[in-house]
Amino acid sequence: MISTTQTSIQPVLEAFKAVADPSRLRLLALCARGELTVTELTEVVGQSQPRVSRNLKLLCAAGLLDRFREQNWVYYRIPLGGRGAELARGLLRLVRADDPVLRLDRERLERVLARRAAQLRGQALDPGVPTPAGVDARIIDLMAGEALGELLDIGTGTGRMLRLLGVDASSAVGIDISREMLVLARANLHAAGLDHLSVRQGNMYQLRFADGSFDTVTIDQVLHQAEQPAEVLREAARVLRPGGRLLLVEYLSAADPAGRSPPGAAAISLDQLAHWCAEAGLRREALDQLPARPWPVVVSVARRPHADRAAA
Ligand SMILES: C[S@@+](CC[C@H](N)C(=O)[O-])C[C@H]1O[C@@H](n2cnc3c(N)ncnc32)[C@H](O)[C@@H]1O
Repeated sequence: MISTTQTSIQPVLEAFKAVADPSRLRLLALCARGELTVTELTEVVGQSQPRVSRNLKLLCAAGLLDRFREQNWVYYRIPLGGRGAELARGLLRLVRADDPVLRLDRERLERVLARRAAQLRGQALDPGVPTPAGVDARIIDLMAGEALGELLDIGTGTGRMLRLLGVDASSAVGIDISREMLVLARANLHAAGLDHLSVRQGNMYQLRFADGSFDTVTIDQVLHQAEQPAEVLREAARVLRPGGRLLLVEYLSAADPAGRSPPGAAAISLDQLAHWCAEAGLRREALDQLPARPWPVVVSVARRPHADRAAA
């Protein structure tokens, strides 16, 4: 006789058991909308932290939630792919989106995240200068016509690139060294309803991804603040698959009429960019210079060549 523990039945039974409780179903529905801490979830559901933690543990054990640590905080979310994601989303499809309990939870979550983001905006964060008009349209133009596939945004900051391109990517992750910026990015992704995207703490000089992990890498307004921009591009090229594309958005070195340079550090010249890309083994395919104010912006696409073509 075959035991159910050896078949595909078991994970489904475990999933049903895990959500057979109103509090756990509510937590699952909330974690389908982004990456949330126990504290945030406790605030939303209005239950004690030990109770919420116990329920989260059961949902994780059933494979319906993933957990990861960021400094002193532990985040929960629906798995990004695989059987757990299928089961969790399948179960949630059985519940009406306008269910009054879940709607109330969603509204409370929005308020909790908005409050967090507002607190952070009051701190001395550097989200970069507002993107000049016309830049986003040019980015979309340049990246069109080819699938974005799996996307990595380096120095994701407010998650701007993820919001602009992530919706067309099969998956997208943003990395940033600043935990505060990540909290802001999560709040922005949540507000935009982009729950299939994720952000993680990481250092752009030592990315925790294997060689050739992504089809698209984006770097937006980061290089002019970097101490070693050439190293950032080398890491970006390493994690790109052969044939993958790097999108670079950067201010060019030109002072505005008042003699100020882009914030954070010296801006960059086109020659420097070309040199760093070539050093990283990337081939430039497109380059557009926009006479934006207060500083000109360059939008450039470079490709990691396939090994055989590079040799040729
Ligand atoms: C000017 S902001 C980029 C803005 C972002 N692209 C956006 O539009 O919201 C530069 C970002 O790079 C991040 N950063 C700086 N050094 C880093 C490092 N070593 N690794 C990863 N991110 C870093 C900063 O925390 C900041 O969020």
